[in-house]
Amino acid sequence: MKKLLLGTLLALACPLLATSAWAANPTTKPNETTKKVEQTLSIIKPDAVAGNHIGEIIARFEKNGLQVAGAKLIKLTPDQAAKFYAEHKQRPFYSDLVKFMTSGPVVLIVLKGENAVAKNRELMGATDPKKAAPGTIRADFAKSVTANSVHGSDSQESAKTEIDFFFKPEEIVR
Ligand code: RTP
Ligand code: MG
Repeated sequence: MKKLLLGTLLALACPLLATSAWAANPTTKPNETTKKVEQTLSIIKPDAVAGNHIGEIIARFEKNGLQVAGAKLIKLTPDQAAKFYAEHKQRPFYSDLVKFMTSGPVVLIVLKGENAVAKNRELMGATDPKKAAPGTIRADFAKSVTANSVHGSDSQESAKTEIDFFFKPEEIVR
C-alpha cells in the first residue's frame, strides 16, 4: 500500500516539476527542443507576377514549412524601390534594378517558420538563375539576373528592417 502511495505521489510530482522548470524558463516548453521560429520578407518580383507564378511560388513556401503571415500585392513606387535596395546604390545594376522592380506589381509576403531566413534563401536559389540549383524558384522561373523572380531577406536583422519597411504590426496576423 505504501509503495502504491509513493508511486502515485511520484507520478503526480514529475509533471509538476517539469512545469515549474518551464515556469523558470518559459522559452522552453516541457519535452520540447528549442525551435528558432523567425520571420522573413519575400517579394515575388514583377517577372513572376506577370508570368502567373504567384500560386506556384507560395505553394513551395508552404510545402517547405513556411507559413504566410502577411501579404499584399502592390506596385512599388520608384522611391520605395530605391529606398528598399539602397544598399546597392553604388552598384552598376542599381538603376536597372529600381526600374525593373517598378515595372509591374509585386507580392510582398511575410513568411514565418523555423529558420525562415535561411530556408527561404535555400528555396530561392542563387541570384543568377543560370547558377541556381535545379528545383529552386529562380532556376525554374527566373529569366535573368535582374528579373530573378523573388527577393528574400539575407539575415534576421535585414528581415526585421525590410518587414517594418512594408508592413504595420497589425498587418502580420499569424
Ligand atoms: P535579393 O536581394 O533580391 O533577394 O537578391 P540577392 O540577395 O540574391 O542578390 P543581391 O546581391 O542582394 O542583389 C539584389 C538584386 O539586384 C539584382 N542584381 N542584378 N545585373 C547584376 O549583376 C545584378 N546583380 C544583382 C538582382 O535582381 C538581385 O536579386
Ligand atoms: Mg539581397
